[in-house]
Amino acid sequence: MPDSRSMRHPVAPIPSDVHYWFSSDVQFHQLYPEHIQNLAARHWTPLHIANLAIQFLVPYDGVKVLDIGSGVGKFALSAAYYKPKALLYGAEQRGHLVAHAKKARRTLGLENAFFFHLNITQLDFRQFNHFYFYNSFYENLLDNERIDDTITYSPHLYSYYHGILYKKLNEMPIGTRVVTFHCLEGKIPPGYQLIEQHMGTLLKCWMKI
Ligand SMILES: C[S@@+](CC[C@H](N)C(=O)[O-])C[C@H]1O[C@@H](n2cnc3c(N)ncnc32)[C@H](O)[C@@H]1O
Repeated sequence: MPDSRSMRHPVAPIPSDVHYWFSSDVQFHQLYPEHIQNLAARHWTPLHIANLAIQFLVPYDGVKVLDIGSGVGKFALSAAYYKPKALLYGAEQRGHLVAHAKKARRTLGLENAFFFHLNITQLDFRQFNHFYFYNSFYENLLDNERIDDTITYSPHLYSYYHGILYKKLNEMPIGTRVVTFHCLEGKIPPGYQLIEQHMGTLLKCWMKI
């Protein structure tokens, strides 16, 4: 006989069809607890933006794309869904966000997305082909709408991280592609040419020439 408590509070089955989760942003956010959902509008890439970005970042099968500051994995997971023959990597400084990304990946059953808990300063960019960047360091300039208080914020870190990103992108070979979302001017080295832009100037597609 079923436990009477579980009859009063039935647990909804988790849908196993991956397409179900990608039917809308609202649906996708159900993968996460409420406090993570509440951060989505400000901090996680919308699905239609991820789809636009990944079309540019994956010119051929087998490409390795790094999301620089991957949060709870929304960009990398959706890009992995839209481009199943690409390999998506996420590097994220907050361990608890990486745990959410890995849990969502298991639910979705996507085998071409991988997440690492580390600061991008520790990463050799030459392991990857192309890059996505959703203005990840800007949180250092925000007084409100922060993700949480688990890290130290400072304008110095904003400049420091951008200096490192600039140097790492500068060292990449010709043909490297970068997509920036909501990024300020002057953050991408001059060797990169702006190839396309979408949503006005919010989403920019760059290639090293
Ligand atoms: C705006 S969110 C974008 C998340 C994800 N890329 C997306 O589009 O859904 C930026 C993320 O970058 C992370 N981040 C910021 N600076 C970082 C650094 N130096 N190394 C690794 N992650 C960083 C933050 O913790 C945050 O989760």
